[in-house]
Amino acid sequence: MSETSPRLRAELEGIPTYKPGKPAAAGGPVAYKLSSNENPYPPLPGVMETAIAAAGSFNRYPDMACTGLMNELAERFGVPVSHLATGTGSVGVAQQLLQATSGPGDEVIYAWRSFEAYPIITQISGATSVQVPLTEGEVHDLDAMADAVTERTRLIFVCNPNNPTGTVVRRAELERFLDRVPSDVLVVLDEAYREFIRDPEVPDGVEIYRERPNVCVLRTFSKAYGLAGLRVGFAIAHEPVAAALRKTAVPFGVSQLAQDAAVASLRAEDELLGRVGSLVCERKRVVEALRAQGWVVPETQANFVWLRLGERTAEFAAACEQAGVVVRPFPGEGVRVTVGEAEANDIFVHAAEGFRKGL
Ligand SMILES: Cc1ncc(COP(=O)(O)O)c(C=O)c1O
Repeated sequence: MSETSPRLRAELEGIPTYKPGKPAAAGGPVAYKLSSNENPYPPLPGVMETAIAAAGSFNRYPDMACTGLMNELAERFGVPVSHLATGTGSVGVAQQLLQATSGPGDEVIYAWRSFEAYPIITQISGATSVQVPLTEGEVHDLDAMADAVTERTRLIFVCNPNNPTGTVVRRAELERFLDRVPSDVLVVLDEAYREFIRDPEVPDGVEIYRERPNVCVLRTFSKAYGLAGLRVGFAIAHEPVAAALRKTAVPFGVSQLAQDAAVASLRAEDELLGRVGSLVCERKRVVEALRAQGWVVPETQANFVWLRLGERTAEFAAACEQAGVVVRPFPGEGVRVTVGEAEANDIFVHAAEGFRKGL
């Protein structure tokens, strides 16, 4: 038998592994997971029943075209079914967008720090990441991103609101940026946290897509709709981008459970968005409490807050864990803390206060 191992693509070397938010310690003291920007509410009873009913036929493949979900989304957003594509979470769809547009020699631009999957999926595609630092206010530097475009640029991610800072780009600056981007470069508006936005100046990407054939909007059922564990997200894009997404999809990637639960969630939207409203109230409470303690907290429009702690990041995360909440540290940079149930937020605010006093 030969001693050599199978040859793998050189591009895979050095890819950082995706770091999921740490789970709450099993069997430990009261512990809440505020590390993955999940929805803290359990599934709605109606959605749960629908998923359980779908589980009864998981010996069968799901509907590969996601017909029911596509029709529901088409009606809801006022877009043709041919402009929709679903995938295994919006991160799955993002990866398909890279497969469809970018390879070795191409460049992909995104702000940094932003969603940690961007460098991973870009490297897997073989393309080169061009990371443009956030401004001092932790916001996308859209002028610098437009300046970074070259003839090799194939795709640009704009994460709005940005993960992990929660900051947003507003209508006028986004339009100005899009006017500068060549029409053969795909701009992906990643709106995973869209439903948590309350700033009226933040544009709805779907409105922008209507006017611009090189804009694609990414949305997910994982956050506001509370289906993170079922893995379903979608893109709204013009042809030929949407068609390319259907070509690059893993066959039968979105389970019937996920499809049916997503449809049931859209139909239970009033109730789900009511929960989002409660989380937005909690967000305001957390931000105000932190600011009153003296922390600098960037304006967040997502279901999390960002504290730039630099070298104290790990220590702060450990203090939170000790208090009973698990947060998401980015070593040497800061922590991202999901807005969760009120008790969890209370514990976090209290831990932040204790830490602040010790500074
Ligand atoms: C900005 C952003 N985009 C996309 C995703 C992916 O979400 P999912 O694959 O669950 O739809 C996340 C998840 O954390 C995110 O923060």
